Amino acid sequence: MNAYPFKGKHALVTGGTKGMGEAIVRSLVRSGATVITTARSLPMEPLAGVRYVEADVASADGTERVADVVKREFGHVDFLVNNVGGSSAPGGGALALTDAMWDAAIQVNLMSAVRLDRALLPAMVERGAGAIVHITSIQRRLPLFESTVAYAAAKAALANYSKSLANEFGPRGVRVNSVAPGFIETTAAQALVKRMAEHRQSSEDDARQVLMASLGGIPIGRPGTPEEVAELVAFLLSPLAASIHGAEFVIDGETIPTV
Ligand SMILES: NC(=O)c1ccc[n+]([C@@H]2O[C@H](COP(=O)([O-])OP(=O)(O)OC[C@H]3O[C@@H](n4cnc5c(N)ncnc54)[C@H](OP(=O)(O)O)[C@@H]3O)[C@@H](O)[C@H]2O)c1
Repeated sequence: MNAYPFKGKHALVTGGTKGMGEAIVRSLVRSGATVITTARSLPMEPLAGVRYVEADVASADGTERVADVVKREFGHVDFLVNNVGGSSAPGGGALALTDAMWDAAIQVNLMSAVRLDRALLPAMVERGAGAIVHITSIQRRLPLFESTVAYAAAKAALANYSKSLANEFGPRGVRVNSVAPGFIETTAAQALVKRMAEHRQSSEDDARQVLMASLGGIPIGRPGTPEEVAELVAFLLSPLAASIHGAEFVIDGETIPTV
């Protein structure tokens, strides 16, 4: 078996300094890919061989900067992983959300991917090859009401958009899939637990239990890990997944119990 199956491949992974994005970057580098990644602030301990671009991909200026670096330094990408996303809205439910909070959720969770896909897809189409993964969330089907209403709606839009893109670009050689994680123990998940604890005036352990219970429990008994998500993404980008297209892969320890 080839130890470096992605040798010679160029990848862009957004949000690759923490959590799942960092695990995805590590996995692709391990497999031989050349990786550009983005974050709003550069990491204290950058990974060897990874090109970091400091940019806020929730803005049009930020995605333009990233796309410019990719085109200048790589020419094209073989793999695009739109991983950036999250929720910074306060608790309090739907009525606590202002227009600005809705807009922020849509910009970071949906428009970051829309803009980068639009900038980098033409080169994939020209080469007749490429693979895109959108990181959505099980919240696109199972919204949490307390603090992530706009986030869940934006992820639902991202999943729907991912399918449209697959329909349009599959015939031109570009594979598009989405990965919907459940509760994955990352920095963002820890921040959500902390915010819930503050809102509820409870301990973080209590908030974590509430979060797991609000999801209906996790049958495997634990949250997932960033590395487990990274392995799934790497598989979807690889030739082993050559006929997997327009699909959504849920990775949630069976948090969603329905078929
Ligand atoms: N963790 C979960 O349980 C879970 C569950 C379902 C779905 N997800 C989704 O999985 C994805 C990754 O989540 P995570 O938990 O791994 O996140 P994380 O640990 O908070 O890491 C987020 C990464 O993205 C970067 N980032 C955040 N906002 C950015 C922006 N506007 N522009 C550029 N970079 C940005 C961060 O760096 P900077 O802060 O320096 O910008 C960091 O590198 C997200 O789309 C999230 O919605 C997570």
